[in-house]
Amino acid sequence: MVTKVININNETFVDACELAAKTLLSGELVGLPTETVYGLAANAFDDRAINKIFETKGRPQDNPLIVHISDYEMLNNIACNISDSAKKAIDAFWPGPFTAVLNKKPTISDVVSCSLKTVAVRMPSHKVALETIKRCGVPLAAPSANISGKPSTTTADHVLDDLDGKIPLILDDGGCEIGVESTVVSFTGEQPVLLRPGFVSLEQLKQILPDILVSSGVENSVSEQEQVESPGMKHKHYAPKAAAVILKGELLAVQKYLSLNKQLGDYIMCFEGEQNLFEIPSIAFGFEDDGASQAKQIFSVLRELDQRDAKRIFIRSPKQEGVSYAVFNRLLRASGFKVVEV
Ligand code: TXA
Ligand code: MG
Repeated sequence: MVTKVININNETFVDACELAAKTLLSGELVGLPTETVYGLAANAFDDRAINKIFETKGRPQDNPLIVHISDYEMLNNIACNISDSAKKAIDAFWPGPFTAVLNKKPTISDVVSCSLKTVAVRMPSHKVALETIKRCGVPLAAPSANISGKPSTTTADHVLDDLDGKIPLILDDGGCEIGVESTVVSFTGEQPVLLRPGFVSLEQLKQILPDILVSSGVENSVSEQEQVESPGMKHKHYAPKAAAVILKGELLAVQKYLSLNKQLGDYIMCFEGEQNLFEIPSIAFGFEDDGASQAKQIFSVLRELDQRDAKRIFIRSPKQEGVSYAVFNRLLRASGFKVVEV
């Protein structure tokens, strides 16, 4: 299969979204930009197309998909018994990088939800994603557009690197504004539960949902056998080829640790401005006090280190607050929860 890539600009926008919609309604997959990461989209009501997502990504069969909508009619067609907390959060954060896990209606098949009774729903704010969903007239299921286990895709080139020849169409709208996936909150129990941190921070969530809990799977590793609130938690994620380790501690302690332990093929993922302070090659992933800048770069940097054939990757630990909390969460998974206190 030849993968066509269309650059989005004012002239191509309408035709590109129309072609994407036609392709999706014919049962094919499309690589679509969103404000968080690129998605690999399919018609959420077409089980054969949904199965193609799992095959194309090599996605574990028990990891359900997020369903993307463009209006509230679509929401009411796929979810029911929506709690007041869910409504408040949806009001506050949609359209945007926020996903609500809700009770599903039978319109959502077991293939999408992996036989759970719930469905994850998001209304993205990206104009290409929204316009494509509108033109389809049906919701689109879309995981991140990477091969399962690899870092997510935040440019059309990343999508091509993983899926060239496997899907017919990618819409290229440049780099994603946010760079990490949406915040996922479940609203199907007594209290809302944060399942995956994202650009909508825990601090912001607490203002709307004072009783929100944080799932233990957010900060702790979960074994393949365990029953978890969100199946995505137990699978290997975001991982570069090299072994990655988070180094927790002051800059000086990190410098000393690396000086003592360095080997050929090592890299340090550090903060902007620190690039020349280590005895091993470095690459920056944003500013220490600016979580948004880290989010925007984390996946490109992990992919870049694969291209440079890094053997071991050490990572300066982001703070566990604000948007950095989401970045820390992705790095925990990328490193297989390897954290060294220095
Ligand atoms: O920003 C995003 O959310 C991106 C863009 C494309 O929208 N999508 C994305 O999808 O990150 P994916 O498939 O890579 O991650 C979906 C996460 C997984 O961790 C999955 O386990 C969880 O959402 N999830 C999906 N449905 C769920 C459900 N019914 N209950 C609990 N967790 C669910
Ligand atoms: Mg993903």
